[in-house]
Amino acid sequence: MARQQHRAWLLVAALFASTSSAATNNSVPAPVSIPPSEYWDGNDGQWSTFQIEVGTPSQLVRLLPSTSASAGTSIWVVLPQGCSEANPELVYSTCANSRGNLFSSNESTTWSTNRLANNGLYELDTYEESQLGLTGNADYGFDSIGLLPGSSNAIASTELIAGIATDDFWLGSLGISPLPMNFTSLDEPVSSILENLRNTSFIPSTSWAYTAGAVYRQPPVFGSLTLGGYDASRMQNSSISLPFGADQSRDLLVGLQAITYDTFGSEPLLAQSIDMFVDSMVSQMWLPLDVCRRFEEAFGLTWNNDTELYVFNDTTHAQLQAQNPSFTFTIGASAGGPQGNTTNIIFPYSAFDLNISAPYVNGSLPYFPLKRAQNSSQYTLGRVFLQEAYLVADYDRRNFTIGQALFPSNSTQDLKAIIAPGTVVNHGSGSSSLSRGAIAGIVVGVVVAVVLLIGILVYLRRRRLRQRKAAQMAELNGVGATPAAKESANGEESEPEETKPVQPPPGASELNGSLGGTELSAAPDAQRMELPTAVNKTNDTDPEQLHELAGDGIAAAELDSPAQNWSRDLAKQ
Ligand SMILES: *[C@@H]1O[C@H](CO)[C@@H](O)[C@H](O)[C@H]1NC(C)=O
Ligand SMILES: *[C@@H]1O[C@H](CO)[C@@H](O)[C@H](O)[C@H]1NC(C)=O
Ligand SMILES: *[C@@H]1O[C@H](CO)[C@@H](O)[C@H](O)[C@H]1NC(C)=O
Ligand SMILES: *[C@@H]1O[C@H](CO)[C@@H](O)[C@H](O)[C@H]1NC(C)=O
Ligand SMILES: *[C@@H]1O[C@H](CO)[C@@H](O)[C@H](O)[C@H]1NC(C)=O
Ligand SMILES: *[C@@H]1O[C@H](CO)[C@@H](O)[C@H](O)[C@H]1NC(C)=O
Ligand SMILES: *[C@@H]1O[C@H](CO)[C@@H](O)[C@H](O)[C@H]1NC(C)=O
Ligand SMILES: *[C@@H]1O[C@H](CO)[C@@H](O)[C@H](O)[C@H]1NC(C)=O
Ligand SMILES: *[C@@H]1O[C@H](CO)[C@@H](O)[C@H](O)[C@H]1NC(C)=O
Ligand SMILES: *[C@@H]1O[C@H](CO)[C@@H](O)[C@H](O)[C@H]1NC(C)=O
Ligand SMILES: *[C@@H]1O[C@H](CO)[C@@H](O)[C@H](O)[C@H]1NC(C)=O
Ligand SMILES: *[C@@H]1O[C@H](CO)[C@@H](O)[C@H](O)[C@H]1NC(C)=O
Repeated sequence: MARQQHRAWLLVAALFASTSSAATNNSVPAPVSIPPSEYWDGNDGQWSTFQIEVGTPSQLVRLLPSTSASAGTSIWVVLPQGCSEANPELVYSTCANSRGNLFSSNESTTWSTNRLANNGLYELDTYEESQLGLTGNADYGFDSIGLLPGSSNAIASTELIAGIATDDFWLGSLGISPLPMNFTSLDEPVSSILENLRNTSFIPSTSWAYTAGAVYRQPPVFGSLTLGGYDASRMQNSSISLPFGADQSRDLLVGLQAITYDTFGSEPLLAQSIDMFVDSMVSQMWLPLDVCRRFEEAFGLTWNNDTELYVFNDTTHAQLQAQNPSFTFTIGASAGGPQGNTTNIIFPYSAFDLNISAPYVNGSLPYFPLKRAQNSSQYTLGRVFLQEAYLVADYDRRNFTIGQALFPSNSTQDLKAIIAPGTVVNHGSGSSSLSRGAIAGIVVGVVVAVVLLIGILVYLRRRRLRQRKAAQMAELNGVGATPAAKESANGEESEPEETKPVQPPPGASELNGSLGGTELSAAPDAQRMELPTAVNKTNDTDPEQLHELAGDGIAAAELDSPAQNWSRDLAKQ
């Protein structure tokens, strides 16, 4: 009897708690803006980096945001081997500074390779980037990080860190993918920093916004990175919202419909829509060969076989600077998406006036950031595109917004939260206000809750009476009445808490097996020749097939095997 009443009170309390947290919790977290390091780093352009603390005592590293679904699942830092072994011809301190500072895991007391096989040495998860020949190995481990400078620091204690040495990625990266990272030797995936920040209510939703910054503007404007929202002062109102691509590793897929330039009477450089993956892990634009040829003809570019870049000679560089064309990229939905709306992103030539330096060339040479794509899986709009484009990705709603970036003065910021679906915000809290719909929702919710409460109380009361009668009957008959009561009690109490475990996609492990991803244990050298490469897997696939490969994306993104040693990276040069 006393127990029944106690249970009824618990239910009442729980109901009030749930309605009040939905209706009146006005402490929805604000979006977080990560301040730029105020450095321009890189060897294939000048990129605005973001400085974070790694390890104990903390080591400061300057990183580039990584929007890539697979490669962005962890934080990448450059190890001392990235200079001492990968670039011994460079002065060590110059190299270290050029790579955004190095991270020595042996000097962090909180570094751990706990749970990882092979002392943490695995292949990097570059499912998309390896299509462009960008790969490498990493020493994986867990360590603490600090995202913000000073007292407001968001310190996360055990984030996944990948220590890299490959020259394919000159700077480390701050992964902002929401996907967990899968190691074949670990049963459970390792959650990403974005998921961790979201789950600890540090940010209001699984979302981010990014633009790379523009060193060529007068005055230069640094990049902007917001987690859980966006900076409305950095995006023009002509932006468009698009759904994510069907393949989870190519989520930021756009339809590039045209590239034109402003010389009177000029032919378009691209006239037919192609699907392009937007990826901040890649520096250049990878366009089809025929489009590259049109660039070559229009601007006198010559392909350099050694560097595999359009390196200028002084004459053509001076000519192009004098011509100073501006380029218009027309962006719409990818094939299969909702066609119709488009937005134009306009680039002054100065956005493409970059220099390439060591280890590609001695010294520093001007080049045009265009690469020849061999097939559709290589079509990529890299960081150079994000100098003039602002990108907002919302993983809760699976859509993203892309539009021309704006360059207000440093102090201007207009942060807007992206609220996760289902969150009801109290009026006046945060930077968002309630719509009529939301208010109506709250009113309906409260009414429903009250009706439910009354219903439950009446039900409990009636059942209590029934059970009392039953107990009296049972006592009379000499039989315990509890089992029936217990059953219904269990049903009531456990239902709201019951959450089903998320099942891995069916067939994921088989796919993994068929891709040759065997776990490596004792014989690293035997594995060397068999390291699976994504390039072979998807070379020459046409766009239709790519969509069918959506399932493969999941399995292939899984790290296939611990890699052998640094020699593979170093041998690539
Ligand atoms: C309100 O939200 C904050 C952050 O999401 C959370 O920490 C807190 O527990 C919530 N309060 C209630 C009463 O639910
Ligand atoms: C890791 O596996 C989970 C399901 O097992 C999947 O949802 C996730 O996308 C995978 N991570 C990557 C980076 O592919
Ligand atoms: C860490 O390793 C480097 C060599 O990679 C060495 O020079 C340094 O002294 C080591 N530091 C500590 C604290 O062991
Ligand atoms: C984060 O929250 C989601 C939804 O509540 C849950 O499925 C997931 O396991 C959580 N992840 C971590 C790392 O706690
Ligand atoms: C967009 O902004 C421009 C000025 O920057 C303004 O003239 C125009 O009306 C705005 N359009 C919309 C739809 O808000
Ligand atoms: C520079 O390149 C252009 C076009 O590729 C070529 O015509 C010209 O001869 C080159 N000039 C020099 C000095 O190499
Ligand atoms: C550049 O390489 C391609 C194929 O690798 C070759 O066909 C071409 O002749 C080379 N061009 C020069 C100028 O070496
Ligand atoms: C085009 O944009 C308008 C306004 O933003 C929107 O109402 C409409 O649904 C969009 N059309 C498509 C096909 O996405
Ligand atoms: C740089 O110069 C050195 C010596 O002059 C030469 O050995 C090396 O190959 C050059 N590197 C590149 C990338 O051109
Ligand atoms: C780019 O290279 C040119 C020629 O080597 C040099 O004059 C210029 O200063 C370089 N620019 C940058 C930003 O490094
Ligand atoms: C996603 O879609 C919703 C509903 O159409 C829209 O309100 C929101 O602005 C979109 N978000 C992004 C980032 O495009
Ligand atoms: C932004 O800050 C940088 C460095 O502090 C400065 O050089 C630049 O002039 C500033 N830009 C504006 C628009 O205030």
